[in-house]
Amino acid sequence: MEKKIYEELGLVNTREMFKKAVDGGYAIPAYNFNNMEQLQAIMIACAETNSPVIIQVSKGARSYANETLLKHMAKGAVEMVRKDLKSNIPIVLHLDHGDSYELCVSCIESGFSSVMIDGSHLPYDENVALTKKVVEYAHQYDVTVEGELGVLAGIEDDVVAEKSTYTKPEEVIEFVQKTGVDSLAISIGTSHGANKFKPEQCTKNEDGVYIPPALRFDILQEIEEKIPGFPIVLHGSSSVPMEAVKIINENGGALKDSVGIPESQIRKATESAVCKVNIDSDGRLWMTAAIRKHFADSPADFDPRKYLGPAREALIIMYKSKNENVLGSAGKV
Ligand code: G3H
Ligand code: 13P
Ligand code: ZN
Repeated sequence: MEKKIYEELGLVNTREMFKKAVDGGYAIPAYNFNNMEQLQAIMIACAETNSPVIIQVSKGARSYANETLLKHMAKGAVEMVRKDLKSNIPIVLHLDHGDSYELCVSCIESGFSSVMIDGSHLPYDENVALTKKVVEYAHQYDVTVEGELGVLAGIEDDVVAEKSTYTKPEEVIEFVQKTGVDSLAISIGTSHGANKFKPEQCTKNEDGVYIPPALRFDILQEIEEKIPGFPIVLHGSSSVPMEAVKIINENGGALKDSVGIPESQIRKATESAVCKVNIDSDGRLWMTAAIRKHFADSPADFDPRKYLGPAREALIIMYKSKNENVLGSAGKV
């Protein structure tokens, strides 16, 4: 085994935390970040709730933040948690939706402790071949790898899929064995972004709130029967809170037909082998809501700390609530 590059940043891979989460019937939060305030909020919320955490960046986020800066942000975040927040929570730095072998290699070389290679849009055999190649490289450095079978609707890091294709349970055993992946992202009805369902796919309750169709727990169960105890990942798991959408739209925003996955559905999923839950859009929504509200209330402000500070506070509240009330990861260190 080569040197574990990520250990220099104080990070761990996902292996042990996934095992504990599968056995314990909860899920590790995988929160996306692009900037300092999001990263601070994730770290503070997870340290204060004593939750293991996966901080993840997409290809777009990595080039937005700058790959060199990002590496030092991750290192700094770990040091802040240990030294200032006096917390020992395990922290993973993960590449979300890696789309090439070269990108995965570059991330591993710069200290990521986990990568996703997303070949879900490729024909099955090509997905297997690409995923296997990444696993063979990553495992030399003890970096864990997430693969994906089945396609989520919505935007997956520049790849837009109009329609979802559910994971085929009959493919999972062979995929896992042939590729050697450490975890598998599946498609059972979640999707990316703030418009997960079209209004015509939903029913409406008496308050006019869209109720989306339930997740395909039958497919999840079939998958679990094929690969018992194998770590399963759920992407597209934002709930798209109506309170945040309302604040955005009351303060100049124009979000339409926003529908997410009810938190009760995610909570139910975490009781199975689903041990990693990806949440990005909910953070974007709460951050936008806080900033729009701030500018509506205080139009003369122009110091970024004045509006990014409240946005960071709103994020901390949200992440804590996810850990405590939805994922069950709070106190699991
Ligand atoms: O699944 C995608 C994530 O929400 C990241 O999105 O590619 O816009 O950074 P992004
Ligand atoms: P959301 O858009 O539902 O937050 O999903 C994020 C995600 O899956 C990142 O990979
Ligand atoms: Zn995703």
